[in-house]
Amino acid sequence: MDWWVSMPKVELHAHLNGSIRNSTLLELARDMGEKGTIVFSDFEHVIKKNDRSLREVFKLFDLIHIVTTDHKTITRITKEVVEDFAAENVVYLELRTTPKVPECYNFGKLLQRNDSIGMSKRSYMEAVVEGLRSVSSSLDINFACDYPEKSSATAEKKIYVRLLLSIDRRESTAAAMETVNLALEMRDMGVIGIDLSGNPTIGEWATFFPALKFAREQGLHITLHCGEVPNPVEIQAMLHFLPGRIGHACCFQDEEWKKLKSSKIPVEICLTSNIQTETISSMDVHHFAELYKAKHPIVLCTDDSGVFSTNLSNEYALAANTFGLGKAELFELAKRAVNFIYAGNRVKMELIEVFESAGRTLEYN
Ligand code: IMP
Ligand code: ZN
Repeated sequence: MDWWVSMPKVELHAHLNGSIRNSTLLELARDMGEKGTIVFSDFEHVIKKNDRSLREVFKLFDLIHIVTTDHKTITRITKEVVEDFAAENVVYLELRTTPKVPECYNFGKLLQRNDSIGMSKRSYMEAVVEGLRSVSSSLDINFACDYPEKSSATAEKKIYVRLLLSIDRRESTAAAMETVNLALEMRDMGVIGIDLSGNPTIGEWATFFPALKFAREQGLHITLHCGEVPNPVEIQAMLHFLPGRIGHACCFQDEEWKKLKSSKIPVEICLTSNIQTETISSMDVHHFAELYKAKHPIVLCTDDSGVFSTNLSNEYALAANTFGLGKAELFELAKRAVNFIYAGNRVKMELIEVFESAGRTLEYN
């Protein structure tokens, strides 16, 4: 693993709450159990279970959201997630998160409203930004072009972080629009785009389209979770929209493959996530191989490193082993991902320099 860890990497599809450390999640759940907010033993097995189906993954998200409803916790998780990515040499991270509506769900059912702890979409995002500001002093972080870079003489690593705000498929058009407006207000704090995610069996494209269209008109970048379940009508509409990138592309049929390939829309590939949620039946039929061979723009990502017990180095090692690719080929793949980031040209040029310098020192045998 050491080699894959030492290689610089670009992460473009990581959900904040899905990237929570297992140890932090257990600690928070135990605390809530002690306070009597939840019955810890009911939750322990959900947290410790591996190999979750897509339905169970969304159950776990409901649980994560129960234990991450206060600002202090959001700040802590953000800090830890950024530090974890930096520790494995992720040099550029686009972190996405859903500004929380003031309510939380337990396994799909509305459990409690969060008004009591004063959470709004804006205050949630401010807690995230606070997490970026509070990363360890052993890390140089750049998260907004207009924000002074936090750098220290003792820093061992540097990471660029940008934020994408997620629209949850449970939300209404008005709530989606609220998220877009918040993204526009927070552009000088590192917010550069919008993601559409959440349970793919819920919600209609027509509900989100007005907000996504408005976001793009205002200059925000867009990425969409696309084709997690077979829904040809929605997949066609999403591809027609021409988002800057899409995530997953698992349940595509011939017509959609054709359209995707001619559009050249980059695909965020999340191998472990697709297998664990059974959106792809086995690695040997994963569309990574086909897209890689066709030289279609792709980038390896983790999706939810905490929920799926993985990290980006592991995803690269997995791709090498499964598809018979060498270190040099995967290094090139990681470097090409710089072309698909949403940050501007200055950051792109600096990242190319990072990769070129690493390419001169890494050994490929
Ligand atoms: P958060 O937005 O930081 O709270 O991250 C967790 C949320 O991301 C989940 O509640 C989902 O809405 C979304 N998410 C995470 N993984 C997936 C996925 O595989 N498919 C669709 N949505 C996802
Ligand atoms: Zn995702």
